[in-house]
Amino acid sequence: MAYNVPRLKDFSPAALDKAAERLLAALKKESADIKAESDWKPFRDRWMARKNGLLTQINELWLKAAPKDAKRNVGQRVNVIKAAVTETVEKLRPNVSGTAIVTGVSAKAKVGEVRAHGQQAIDITLPGNRRPLGAEHPVIKTMNEIVSVFRNLGYSVEKGPIIETDYYNFEALNFPPNHPARDTQDTLFVANQESKPLRDRLLLRTHTSPVQIRTMEKIKPPLRIVIPGKVHRNDPPDASHSPMFHQIEGLAVDTNITLGDLKGTLDHAMKALFGSSVKTSFRPSFFPFTEPSAEMLISCFICGGSGRRRSEPCRSCKQTGWIEILGCGMVDPNVFEFVKNHGYDPRRVSGFAFGMGADRIAILKYGVDDIQLFFQGDVRVLGQFG
Ligand code: DAH
Repeated sequence: MAYNVPRLKDFSPAALDKAAERLLAALKKESADIKAESDWKPFRDRWMARKNGLLTQINELWLKAAPKDAKRNVGQRVNVIKAAVTETVEKLRPNVSGTAIVTGVSAKAKVGEVRAHGQQAIDITLPGNRRPLGAEHPVIKTMNEIVSVFRNLGYSVEKGPIIETDYYNFEALNFPPNHPARDTQDTLFVANQESKPLRDRLLLRTHTSPVQIRTMEKIKPPLRIVIPGKVHRNDPPDASHSPMFHQIEGLAVDTNITLGDLKGTLDHAMKALFGSSVKTSFRPSFFPFTEPSAEMLISCFICGGSGRRRSEPCRSCKQTGWIEILGCGMVDPNVFEFVKNHGYDPRRVSGFAFGMGADRIAILKYGVDDIQLFFQGDVRVLGQFG
């Protein structure tokens, strides 16, 4: 005879225990009868169907029907039953390859528990549900480390929009109209902007530099800021490129800021980040918003600058002993012209700026050989950076 949920007349703890025990015995017997994969669904539905499954029935016939003073006792048992049913059903659920996944405790333990402990609804000796802690993403972790180095120097953190206007991303940063960086090749433009004047058209910012302008419009000099954030470029993804990546920008403006300040600050920052034996070197470069502009290199912290590691050519620095780490320079007075009315008179203030790619630094730091691994969301990869 198949088990039926009885109506209860007696709601005393002893009677409740008996009823629960009978039900759990039925659960045990019916679960043992599951032989084929196709048996599982009817079993689940008999016990768990929202409409008139056995769990729904005990809710109606036992819990809802219970007199007020017995509700608590009934509720406790119903909870134990629910847990046992859910667990048994889940345990027997056929997995993709067709075999049942066996985990946790069986309904048998639950029966024993009701019998042994009477009133006690929860067996605290059972293993709990594992809720894994998340880990900080390696790129975010790297960005936080870089930001904290500059925070310690008195820099504050600024943010800006990822969808930016042509004005902030290019024009106010002294990009001439036909500068190559504006090419459709590099920039992801928002569609249907043609009816707007060029400077108002929207795009995905290609660098964090527009936040320099936004912040200078907001805060008067002296200014010392770092800007961590997401940027986009129209680059096809490969081992070292991603259409979305991360930068950290820096800007210091005051009266009498010199190239010496730039070099001293960045040299200190690199030693703080990569170790005190790291050397820095500057070579001339070009950015529209700095004059002069430079690229900073650091001695390779993987091979110690020798170009070879474990008698192999060092891949991190391509055997040169140096790694290109950031772009920098003295803020071009033309940039200050755009924020002159906000207190940045190019005749009075000077400043330096820099920008670096956080993903690239994370790749070097952690010896990862493919930037895509950072963005595929695979916990087997990301879980290693906890
Ligand atoms: N925005 C530049 C880029 O994405 C990086 C950069 C270079 C930022 C020099 C700066 C700077 O602030 O001064 O390539």
